[in-house]
Amino acid sequence: MADGITIAFGPMGPVGQGDLVLFVGDDLLLAPAVVQTVGQAAADLLARAAASERFKGKSLSALAVPAPSGLDADRLLVIGLGSEKDRAKIDWPALGGFTAGKVSGRVAHVALGFPGLDVTAENAADFALGARLRHYSFDHYKTKKKPEGEESKGTTLTLMVSDPGAADAAVMATDAVANGVILARELVNEPPNVLYPEEFARRTEALTKLGVEVEVLGPGKLEALGMGALLAVARGSVREPRVVVMRWNGADAADAPIAFIGKGVCFDSGGISIKGAAGMEDMKGDMGGAACVVGTLHALAARKAKVNVIGAIGIVENMPDGAAYRPGDIVTSMSGQTIEIINTDAEGRLVLADVIWHIQNAYKPTFMIDLATLTGAIIVALGQDIAGLFSNDDALAAKLTAAGEATGEAVWRMPLIPAYDKAIDSKFADMKNTGGRHGGAATAASFIKRYVNDVPWAHLDIAGVAMSSSSSEINRSWGAGWGVRLLDRLVRDNYEG
Ligand code: BES
Ligand code: MN
Ligand code: ZN
Repeated sequence: MADGITIAFGPMGPVGQGDLVLFVGDDLLLAPAVVQTVGQAAADLLARAAASERFKGKSLSALAVPAPSGLDADRLLVIGLGSEKDRAKIDWPALGGFTAGKVSGRVAHVALGFPGLDVTAENAADFALGARLRHYSFDHYKTKKKPEGEESKGTTLTLMVSDPGAADAAVMATDAVANGVILARELVNEPPNVLYPEEFARRTEALTKLGVEVEVLGPGKLEALGMGALLAVARGSVREPRVVVMRWNGADAADAPIAFIGKGVCFDSGGISIKGAAGMEDMKGDMGGAACVVGTLHALAARKAKVNVIGAIGIVENMPDGAAYRPGDIVTSMSGQTIEIINTDAEGRLVLADVIWHIQNAYKPTFMIDLATLTGAIIVALGQDIAGLFSNDDALAAKLTAAGEATGEAVWRMPLIPAYDKAIDSKFADMKNTGGRHGGAATAASFIKRYVNDVPWAHLDIAGVAMSSSSSEINRSWGAGWGVRLLDRLVRDNYEG
């Protein structure tokens, strides 16, 4: 994996060469312990540099100076933590990401402490999580080496904390989550000629090493199950569809599982209702929901979460072809309900309809959450920093909202009213696959709702957040791996006994 960063915890102490990273508040006063480590001369030098560089110790700002002779480090890097108010609600992953960005390709010791700040083992682990996510980049297909001096030498971080043993224990869980996010990003970033449905399914089989049961269903099985909606979408592609059902049994065998279901359109050309050329390459990321489900299962299994989970993904390619499904076709979904195709570019809901139906009947989950890069309309409504949440269950919606606030993977609840459902009634079939221009994200959600029986369900429209969001402290890559931290947190806070 593209992840040349090594992070270890150690005690506060001498650092040797490389960077020494220190934190200051907006008063710019260094902690007495720090002054003791670096000496009064270095402290004075930092104070002078801060004045001349107008460094004010604001949150997520940095100042670097060469270490004065006599000090056992090459460079001092001071990072601001802001005001007392800022310091009361530090975003640890963001701070870790910011710091990693400043010491990229270097060896650094980070004195992870500040007077009045109680840095817990979990805070330190979250810092490490942010550093690892920040460091991720997708460059498998760059064949030219970077010019001399710019090549990545790898980053080595030693996080100096009061209790390194406790931090080591806490980082086992956050490393599992980091690896899940990175796996999801890899899947989203891969080009569609490489990551077609069969290959996507093959990659999920690696989860068996973590103790996940992986079942791959091919066209014959999908046909036998009656997944006429999913198969209609797949028909235009030379690539065969797959449905993958992953199962992590971390709790009592008698406990009913929870279920995560992802849209996995490896490439969405729109099909016969073909999309415009501009930006069509982005539709390699139309499997961001499926990537999130795979990444989440990885995270939960790797940290041995005490929960039973089903992860299911429908993976297809949506292409125009002589054999492709067309506007006007009427297809029969696995549920028996018929669907009039109005627009072959509204394919994700067709895939989800069959996978959701199968999972709720075969596994009787206690709740289902589906994730899908489902509509451009959700981007118009909410932008690229928050996902749309639709749900038939207030308690589940509240838990997702809380997990979103805790992780920064924010969700915003949208309405589901009868008018949206009415908009997808069809003249010729039980429903049509689009509801017109108005309320596009909501009519899409209402379509999915027609495949959900009496079980708590939430639908996350992640078209705006799964890829190409503006870069953050913890992501510089196109694929975001969005939702892995959210779902891991949802499970950790609510469903582990
Ligand atoms: N995959 C797209 C939605 C999308 C758009 C995801 C932009 C990420 C970025 C989805 O399959 C789609 O094409 N939706 C149509 C639905 C319409 C035809 C009812 C859309 O949003 O335009
Ligand atoms: Mn589409
Ligand atoms: Zn799509």
